[in-house]
Amino acid sequence: MTGSFEGKVALVTGAGGGIGLATAEAFANAGASVILADCDEKAIGKAAEGLRAAGHNAIGVTCDVTDAVQVEAMIERAVRTYGRLDAAFNNAGVNSDAAAFLDTSDDEFERVMNVNLRGVWNCMKGELQQMMAQGSGAIVNCSSIGGLKGSRGRSAYSASKHAVIGLTRSAALDYAATGIRINAVCPGMVKTPMAVFVTKNYDPEIVRRMVAQEPIGRFGEPEEIAAAVVWLCSPAASFMVGHAMAVDGGILAG
Ligand SMILES: NC(=O)c1ccc[n+]([C@@H]2O[C@H](COP(=O)([O-])OP(=O)(O)OC[C@H]3O[C@@H](n4cnc5c(N)ncnc54)[C@H](O)[C@@H]3O)[C@@H](O)[C@H]2O)c1
Repeated sequence: MTGSFEGKVALVTGAGGGIGLATAEAFANAGASVILADCDEKAIGKAAEGLRAAGHNAIGVTCDVTDAVQVEAMIERAVRTYGRLDAAFNNAGVNSDAAAFLDTSDDEFERVMNVNLRGVWNCMKGELQQMMAQGSGAIVNCSSIGGLKGSRGRSAYSASKHAVIGLTRSAALDYAATGIRINAVCPGMVKTPMAVFVTKNYDPEIVRRMVAQEPIGRFGEPEEIAAAVVWLCSPAASFMVGHAMAVDGGILAG
C-alpha cells in the first residue's frame, strides 16, 4: 500500500494500542497524515509520538467516543490540523466478561453498547458531515466475527457488534451515491490487549481451545486487520460498499 495515501488524512479511534495502533501505523506507512484518538491519554500521546519519531505526520487526541461533544471536538481538531478527512476507522471498542444472558447486568449491556455502538454512531456523524462537504471519503467500522454469528456467553458484545453491521450497511446505502463508501471489518481472534483479557493472560488451556477453532491454526496479528482496513479505505476497494469483511483465519468459512 506504500504511497497510495500520499496527501490523504486518516482518523483512527482506539488507536492507543492493539488493532487501532497497527492501523494508524499502516495508514502512516501508506503516506497519510494520521489523527490517533483514544480515551487513554497516556497511551495515545505515546502512540502519536512514536509515529512522529518515525517521520510521519500524526497528532494524538484524547477522546471518549461515547461523548458526542468530545467526538465533535476531535473531528474539528483533525480538520483544523490537516484540512480534510479521507479515511476513518471507527475501532474503539470494549469486551465483556463471559457470562450467560441472565447473568449479564443491564449496566454491563449499557456500557458495552455505549462504546461499541454509540461510539461508532457519534464518530460517523462528524466524519460524514466532513466527507459530505468534501464529496469523498471512506469509513470502516470495527465489528467482529461476533457480529456475524452468535457467541455463547457474549450476548452484550455480540449484540453491539451485530448492530455495528446493521448501522454500516444502512448508512452505506444512504451515502453510496455521494462518493463516500462505508464498510465494516470483522476480525477473528487477534493478539492485542483484548486477547489478553479474553484468554485470561494467554491461559494455555483457553488458548488451546480457541486456536482449535481457528482453521488457520493461530491467532491473527493486528497488522493483518490493519492491512484489510487500509485496503477497504483505498481506491483499490472503490466498488466495496456496505460490506462486512471477515478477517478471521477461516472461522466463518466452516
Ligand atoms: N482482539 C480481538 O481478538 C478482536 C476480535 C474482534 C473484534 N475486535 C475489535 O477490534 C477493536 C479493537 O480491539 P483491540 O483488540 O485492538 O482492543 P484493545 O483493547 O487493544 O484496544 C481498544 C482501544 O480502544 C480504546 N477505547 C476503549 N473505550 C474507548 C472509548 N470510550 N473512547 C475511546 N477509546 C476507547 C482503548 O483505550 C484501547 O486503546 C474493538 O472494537 C474490538 O471489539 C477485536
